[in-house]
Amino acid sequence: MWSALVLLPIGATLTHQSPLSLDLQRDSLALTVPTTAPSGTSNVVDKSYPGLAFSQHSFQEYAGNKSSPNTFSANLIKAISDRTGTALHIRVGGTSGDFSTFDPNQKESIVFPPGYKPGGIPKGMKLGPTWYEGFTSFPGVRYTYMTHLANTSDGQKANSVAGTKEALKNIGSNLEAIEIGNEINFYPNVNRNGSYSVVNYLNEWHDYQEAIDAAVGAQKYQAPVYFGNNCPWCIANTFQRGQNSKNNVVSAALHHYMDGSNVPVTALQSNYMNHTRIANQLDPFKTPVAWLAQNAPSVNLDLAEDNSNTYSTNNYDVLGVFGSTLWLADYLLYGTTLGIRRMNIQQSTGFSYASWRGVDYNGLPAAVLPPYYAHPFVADVLGKTGSTRVANIATGRDTFSAYGIYDGSTLKRIVLINFREYNSATTSTRPSTTASLSSGSYNGKITIERLTAPDAHVQDASKISWKGLSWTKASNGQSYSSASTTGSTTSRSGKFSVEVKDSEAVLLTLG
Ligand SMILES: *[C@@H]1O[C@H](CO)[C@@H](O)[C@H](O)[C@H]1NC(C)=O
Ligand SMILES: *[C@@H]1O[C@H](CO)[C@@H](O)[C@H](O)[C@H]1NC(C)=O
Ligand SMILES: *[C@@H]1O[C@H](CO)[C@@H](O)[C@H](O)[C@H]1NC(C)=O
Ligand SMILES: *[C@@H]1O[C@H](CO)[C@@H](O)[C@H](O)[C@H]1NC(C)=O
Repeated sequence: MWSALVLLPIGATLTHQSPLSLDLQRDSLALTVPTTAPSGTSNVVDKSYPGLAFSQHSFQEYAGNKSSPNTFSANLIKAISDRTGTALHIRVGGTSGDFSTFDPNQKESIVFPPGYKPGGIPKGMKLGPTWYEGFTSFPGVRYTYMTHLANTSDGQKANSVAGTKEALKNIGSNLEAIEIGNEINFYPNVNRNGSYSVVNYLNEWHDYQEAIDAAVGAQKYQAPVYFGNNCPWCIANTFQRGQNSKNNVVSAALHHYMDGSNVPVTALQSNYMNHTRIANQLDPFKTPVAWLAQNAPSVNLDLAEDNSNTYSTNNYDVLGVFGSTLWLADYLLYGTTLGIRRMNIQQSTGFSYASWRGVDYNGLPAAVLPPYYAHPFVADVLGKTGSTRVANIATGRDTFSAYGIYDGSTLKRIVLINFREYNSATTSTRPSTTASLSSGSYNGKITIERLTAPDAHVQDASKISWKGLSWTKASNGQSYSSASTTGSTTSRSGKFSVEVKDSEAVLLTLG
């Protein structure tokens, strides 16, 4: 197994030193958050924006089956959808599924290929009917189901259609869309020849789509499914060449991860607790959002599989800590400002970025993991009115982000995230930033709710709380009151101030 520590220079393991560690005293930051939505505020954010994705080789662990549905997962999912007031959306797909086959006679829900090791991505797994029963485990959830395209051997198209039929039997009216194949831009020189093109892909896609529609009736599709948006494998080129020629594509899926190689814990600050880097990585998605709005306005753009790092093996110390909860909160919120319709945050058992571990696995217990808290936090920030819009408020700092949350054009809430990395093992006094806010001429109460933990390195989810609530396996994924962190202040003529500790987020509610 890889260890982050062997990659570090001697001495670097002893401290989690941030570039700002010399600036440990309290500081202050003046911010103006207009009471009327400023230019650059997002369009209305879809209520299903904070979604999830499950890798197909982990879906049976997260969901269970008809005789044994996973109620721990169901409760964690319900905590999100209760807050958004709409069905949570889950995409079930990925590389393992693209190389899977359906075996209608298989008793086991899943059979891994020989040599498969826990935490890896299998190529050649076999799914039985019990695997598909997982789609019945979460009441009210809406699904996008990915069927396989990667394997061109004889009979694979018929097998893909048979698997889709089995999926639809279990998903029923909760289906939103079908995907055919995963991250097609990686096919050339891997499972197709080196001259494989967008046109070749579209021919295959239409061939499969026609076979699926012939078997189960006309469907709605999410296509294409690309990692990133790099032309010729990009939204504009793919739609110009006929992706939606039959008007059956409702959304397009791009995938994104912040990193693709091991990131040591010394880079928690620079790579994840860093609003500038999040914005730099997500800003390129404005291009496909704008292209679709102009040329195919009925097609939404989803980041349908995204998370922190595709290198996610035994690096819980950076991906599975409270600092990464704050990363995910900011990543989700910043995405709303770009017009992305939804993010499906990827879950895979044994991957360090996971928001929870649905079952005991490879020597580790079923557990809520720190990133989970970002989902109910963001769901509460966006709320359930269906008219929420979000403005990113520039702070001039990598390590502090701010958002104005508007109902239509009226300011309702403010989010502040202090990303400075606090490590209680090396510094006993916790620094903070006092935000001095200016919001028009608002007079009245401001409620202050905190997403907080003892420091950025906390891995034990019971030590994290969002507005005084925690979630654990012991509570079977139901929230319980763990800490009292909610307070209030008063705004006079639009002026008020709020202290935000290093490595903490706050939600301010007006009125
Ligand atoms: C059904 O789910 C339970 C709980 O995850 C599991 O123990 C059992 O093996 C599953 N059944 C099949 C046939 O895989
Ligand atoms: C493709 O499918 C065939 C069976 O049709 C199987 O023998 C082969 O291993 C599969 N290839 C991959 C890469 O999964
Ligand atoms: C590569 O595959 C495509 C179909 O995907 C085919 O049309 C083309 O002839 C192949 N090219 C070569 C050089 O084998
Ligand atoms: C944040 O990320 C940007 C872009 O990668 C980088 O230039 C900057 O140094 C980072 N800030 C910190 C505090 O690490």
